[in-house]
Amino acid sequence: MDWDVMLTPYKQAVDELKIKLKGVRDQYQLTSKHTPIEFVTGRVKPVSSILEKAKRKNIPLNQLEEEMQDLAGVRIMCQFVGDIDTVVGLIKARTDFSIEEERDYIKHKKRSGYRSYHMILRYPVQTIEGGEKHILVELQVRTLAMNFWATIEHSLQYKYSGKIPDEIEQRLVKAAEAAYLLDEEMSKIRGEVQEAQQIMSKQQEALRRKR
Ligand code: GTP
Ligand code: MG
Repeated sequence: MDWDVMLTPYKQAVDELKIKLKGVRDQYQLTSKHTPIEFVTGRVKPVSSILEKAKRKNIPLNQLEEEMQDLAGVRIMCQFVGDIDTVVGLIKARTDFSIEEERDYIKHKKRSGYRSYHMILRYPVQTIEGGEKHILVELQVRTLAMNFWATIEHSLQYKYSGKIPDEIEQRLVKAAEAAYLLDEEMSKIRGEVQEAQQIMSKQQEALRRKR
């Protein structure tokens, strides 16, 4: 298999989506509205990981493009849990790709403690040989706290080759609960700030009318 050739459209899709999503962020920053996108990352799955996952999940190499949905992966990080809904709404309103599948690991968190909102996109890239090619991209939307947890958990999975000792696993579940509470507390503070801003603007409006 010529991996470079096979993965080129995936790299193209990741690069394009990163630019488009950063464009959304820039548009918000021009307004006074809070931007729901804190930052965006993306990657093409390294060949060694593709081979490992194909073996683990019994995916024939000639079916990778349809069966391995995360060859291209894009991640959107948000400050607040409420921002995730906004981002999902923005994604759904777009017409430059379609959504093939959605998995809400926030409403239904995983046993590990993992939380994130996943969408599998069907994204069109232009190729010189085959014209338009519609490839799958995995989009993960999560808060900074969810990302912190997932990053730490992922390195431990790596360190222990997927067999994290029970005691550490339990700690991770506790850490996931702490991350959840952090998200809750931050959401409450966010509400306070927005209420305060509304009260202030109403007072200013009232003062203007008296003058
Ligand atoms: P893989 O988990 O990728 O083998 O495929 P799947 O078909 O089980 O999909 P799933 O929706 O469970 O996971 C997709 C991706 O979400 C993974 O590749 C990870 O990036 C992320 N993910 C899912 N579960 C966990 C988890 O428990 N911990 C961490 N750190 N990431 C997770
Ligand atoms: Mg999984």
